[in-house]
Amino acid sequence: MRGKIDLVYIDPPFGTGGTFGIDKSGRIATISKSNDAEIAYSDTLRGREFVEWLRERVVLLHRLLSPKGSLYLHIDYKIGHYVKVMLDEVFGMENFRNDITRIKCNPKGFRRVGYGNVKDMILFYSKGEKPIWNDIKIRCSDEDIAKRYNKVDSKGRRYTTVPIHAPGETKSGDTAQCFRGIYPPKGRHWRCSVAELERLDDMGLIEWSASGNPRKINYADDHLSKKQQDIWEYKDPAYPVYPTEKNLDMLKYIVCNSSDSGSIVLDCFCGSGTTLCAAACSGRRWIGVDRSDIAIAVSAERLNALKPEDSASYELIDLSE
Ligand SMILES: C[S@@+](CC[C@H](N)C(=O)[O-])C[C@H]1O[C@@H](n2cnc3c(N)ncnc32)[C@H](O)[C@@H]1O
Repeated sequence: MRGKIDLVYIDPPFGTGGTFGIDKSGRIATISKSNDAEIAYSDTLRGREFVEWLRERVVLLHRLLSPKGSLYLHIDYKIGHYVKVMLDEVFGMENFRNDITRIKCNPKGFRRVGYGNVKDMILFYSKGEKPIWNDIKIRCSDEDIAKRYNKVDSKGRRYTTVPIHAPGETKSGDTAQCFRGIYPPKGRHWRCSVAELERLDDMGLIEWSASGNPRKINYADDHLSKKQQDIWEYKDPAYPVYPTEKNLDMLKYIVCNSSDSGSIVLDCFCGSGTTLCAAACSGRRWIGVDRSDIAIAVSAERLNALKPEDSASYELIDLSE
């Protein structure tokens, strides 16, 4: 498979020293760290031993990635910064794309000294300069739209206005000229040529204030989606079927963004098979590996239970842009 994998997502043990089990009460239901639980997996390596153990695997994963491939590595805030340094070494700092902050849970009351921890991190690297990148936009929530587009025109369309000038003075050229009798304010230039401003004004897309200040009109229905930023809220499932099971919507988002239809997606710490389900739902091929028999059984069960409508459940994401 060398050079054939377009996307690797891994969520390895985090070097916590913990043992994770599943209590069975009829069917798999509760997750605990208690001694009487059936052990799903142990996370015994710590510190530098853990980082070295992970490095050996990351070197192999790097070889498996295609030239347009990417790695997403999910890790916690305690060991994550050491893992980042190791990944810089294997992938090259120039191929580091993002340190994504993932909000994993609701705020907690912490007893120990320190702030409540509601996030972990996902380190995103590409193998080379031109990874698969579908740049899938996020649909704005109704609340977001109401906040950002707080004006309503005579036809009931929500809109906001933005300045038509930007910092920086240009002495000559299109963006320094007179527009409808006014010049850009001191130290600023028009954001576009005067001809373009006149075109916008003729189309009714410039709002003039009572004092004669022009601003560009942006309608909410032209901007229903927005660029994804590097803070994501994808909380852990409320009723996990496996310890540390991750959010399926988050995996669908990663898969759709960083692989193409028909790509091979690999998760070699697949746990309950969240990545594999996301890949299967999105028309990707997948390879899942885990050393726990329980993980393999749970993954198989989840994959077998997928229904055609699961692929349509990804409607939060606007694929049209
Ligand atoms: C944090 S869990 C993954 C959870 C998964 N992302 C999910 O959504 O269900 C880590 C997994 O790595 C597996 N694991 C630990 N060491 C491994 C190894 N050396 N090779 C393969 N899998 C391993 C564990 O059995 C466990 O299922």
